[in-house]
Amino acid sequence: MLPLENKTAIVTGASRGIGRAIALRLAGEGATLVVTATSVEGARNTASAIVEAGGKARAAAVNVAEFSQVDSLLKETKDTEGSIDILVNNAGITRDNLLLRMSQEQWDEVLAVNLKGTFNCIRAASKVLMKQRAGKIINITSVVGVMGNAGQANYCASKAGVIGLTKSVARELAPRNIQVNAVAPGFIATDMTADLPEDVKDGLLGSIPLGRLGEARDVAAVVSFLASPDSDYITGQVLHVDGGMAM
Ligand code: NAI
Repeated sequence: MLPLENKTAIVTGASRGIGRAIALRLAGEGATLVVTATSVEGARNTASAIVEAGGKARAAAVNVAEFSQVDSLLKETKDTEGSIDILVNNAGITRDNLLLRMSQEQWDEVLAVNLKGTFNCIRAASKVLMKQRAGKIINITSVVGVMGNAGQANYCASKAGVIGLTKSVARELAPRNIQVNAVAPGFIATDMTADLPEDVKDGLLGSIPLGRLGEARDVAAVVSFLASPDSDYITGQVLHVDGGMAM
């Protein structure tokens, strides 16, 4: 029997990059996947890849910043699948700028998706998980939420917020046997980092002890551990997958 057989997992922002790698990995371990992204085509693309590989998945378009959309998806998932066992809050965006040039919109958009979006999903899932007296919530934060990064005040604040949210909810839900943890990737080769100028990339490599960017699968492997029964005694933690950047 596969480790996540009979488990239902929701992954937000799973059309590409890290979210897609997480969805594929959890499905490969037997979970039934609800693949979400802002566009239904993006979500379908990942769901089809899972089904083609012999897994179980369906696709849904959800903007995590909108509580009503998230709440409907969670209710629908509970009704059709019977349970929600794993929630991975991966959806995230960047709107980088130096502080003095950062607009209200750039600040608000990033906070709305990265921090409020994570809260929305946890809030909508929590009733179901509490009734089940079991569940795993995994939030994707970032190394820069711990270290800070010039030009990313909005993004770093949102990711630091996700860490505080993770620890608070971990304490609240622990009596119901729900584990809540965060994964903090360093620089991972995805669309989000593809646009970085070469000189910035070179500078970055110098700050990574392992001397390379990470792969989406490096993050997916740690999420899969936190989704599995092997991590049942771990809650409120931030696991860094950053090649040693923050230590
Ligand atoms: P990406 O840009 O390749 O993918 C982001 C995903 O989020 C897409 O599927 C997109 O549709 C979805 N999304 C965006 N706004 C959304 C919304 N309002 N509602 C629902 N879905 C939405 O990004 P990547 O690199 O795969 O990042 C995934 C997560 O990992 C993000 O939370 C990011 O902040 C975090 N991260 C990424 C790092 C990297 O180096 N790539 C480093 C540290 C953290």
